[in-house]
Amino acid sequence: MHFYEMSSRLIGDTVSKVTDNVTTVVLAASVITLILGYVSKVLLRQSSDKDLKYPPYIPSSIPFLGHAIAFGKSPIEFLENAYEKYGPVFSFTMVGSTFTYLLGSEAATLMFNSKNDDLNAEDVYSRLTTPVFGKGVAYDVPNPVFLEQKKMLKTGLNIAHFREHVKIIEAETKEYFQRWGDSGERNLFEALSELIILTASSCLHGKEIRSMLNERVAQLYADLDGGFSHAAWLLPGWLPLPSFRKRDRAHREIKNIFFKVTQKRRQSGEKVDDFLQTLIDATYKDGRPLNDSEIAGMLIGLLLAGQHTSSTTSAWMGFFMARDKSLQERCYAEQKAACGEDLPPLDYDQLKDLNLLERCLKETLRLRPPIMTMMRMARSPQTAAGYTIPVGHQVCVSPTVNHRLYDTWDKRLEFNPDRYLDDNLAAGEKFAYVPFGAGRHRCIGENFAYVQIKTIWSTLLRMYDFDLVDGYFPTINYTTMIHTPNNPVIRYKKRTQ
Ligand code: HEM
Repeated sequence: MHFYEMSSRLIGDTVSKVTDNVTTVVLAASVITLILGYVSKVLLRQSSDKDLKYPPYIPSSIPFLGHAIAFGKSPIEFLENAYEKYGPVFSFTMVGSTFTYLLGSEAATLMFNSKNDDLNAEDVYSRLTTPVFGKGVAYDVPNPVFLEQKKMLKTGLNIAHFREHVKIIEAETKEYFQRWGDSGERNLFEALSELIILTASSCLHGKEIRSMLNERVAQLYADLDGGFSHAAWLLPGWLPLPSFRKRDRAHREIKNIFFKVTQKRRQSGEKVDDFLQTLIDATYKDGRPLNDSEIAGMLIGLLLAGQHTSSTTSAWMGFFMARDKSLQERCYAEQKAACGEDLPPLDYDQLKDLNLLERCLKETLRLRPPIMTMMRMARSPQTAAGYTIPVGHQVCVSPTVNHRLYDTWDKRLEFNPDRYLDDNLAAGEKFAYVPFGAGRHRCIGENFAYVQIKTIWSTLLRMYDFDLVDGYFPTINYTTMIHTPNNPVIRYKKRTQ
């Protein structure tokens, strides 16, 4: 789960899962508190700042819940309709909070150029990320410290390491897919999710940690990932809920594994050229090295940040290629043209020459960006499109909507990788295409994600020919904001070269 997916899960989940019986009583108490907060906010808004022009507000006849149900059912449709009716900046209420969306490139500029003290990420993300990653990293520390940590992580994501990663990922993919045999119909998303945990652990954690990744450790990761839940968003963290306990136990156990490996590495004095070593050797600007707890937190973050984002993207990419057989054949032909007729093992330089495959990935990220919404808390009044956004609004930008705005994109809903050959893509608008965000919170994993997904798909295209099952192209599951494919079963047949 990417850090910020949580903020979003609330929206789809809250409505549908409030029946969780263990939490009902506490939830009721929390809801009352939220309602009181909401009512006082509404009253305050009425009594002050009458002269300011606020963003258009989408009214709702349902108090407190507001538009949560309509949004949860079909967020893209909801936002597109609102854009048409109200323009690029508008507000609405869900579950007692007011959300202000900035749609389109120009409006999004406010978020991407803002200071973290004005539009704040910790206020919306930390509640969920800190119990999972631990203290001292990411949104638990002031943003300048997190920026330093991001810089350290970026040092480890370098070309020398990518060269090794390509080999590792190709080998993991071949081994994993052996179980698929020569032909059949299988759940592609499930397979890619399992594979990506393995490849990310090999590449980003190193050999020692990867070798410990058995079913038990995979379960620990799953329990930890389960910490990104609606309960964690809504309820106080000290409650003795089973899912909180599981999350906390998994956190402790995983950290212990990472502590042992880190200490062993430190004691051995051995200098392996991998990510763990990068973090052991890294220092803050003031010269202080990372402590073991910070290293463990960053290793957890690295794994989970790329997990859902990359597995969902790879799965959608597979379905887009299975749907368009001539495109799939062009991609296969490109493998031979760029790497050689006999398809030798992949290497990083050849991977860079796979331009069509790269454009397919880029187009998949346009139509199915895994992060549907980026969020910040307005800590000071902000201005966008002539409106004043008050303190306390959750300010949002949606890559999904920006990537398909009808006044920006030509044939906006068509999967057309060749559109990137056009010099004047999306009329040159700066934030029309933002699958990895922008500004101070921009993703550091983009290059790694490209290496990982391109290597996996090069390997798979060489192994199999893919088809939709009876023409079914997966519909979108909106219940989480990482929009996964529904019933993601694909048909495959071994290639005979
Ligand atoms: C297809 C894959 C991925 C996509 C689409 C993606 C997308 C994003 C987006 C949209 C953001 C900005 C969030 C915001 O502004 O609120 C972000 C931030 C980030 N991502 Fe990724 N990501 C991907 C893979 C990865 C991987 C593999 C890693 C680690 C190796 C990673 C690490 C991070 C980090 C550390 C941040 C910074 C968060 C911040 O500064 O607040 N991501 N990513």
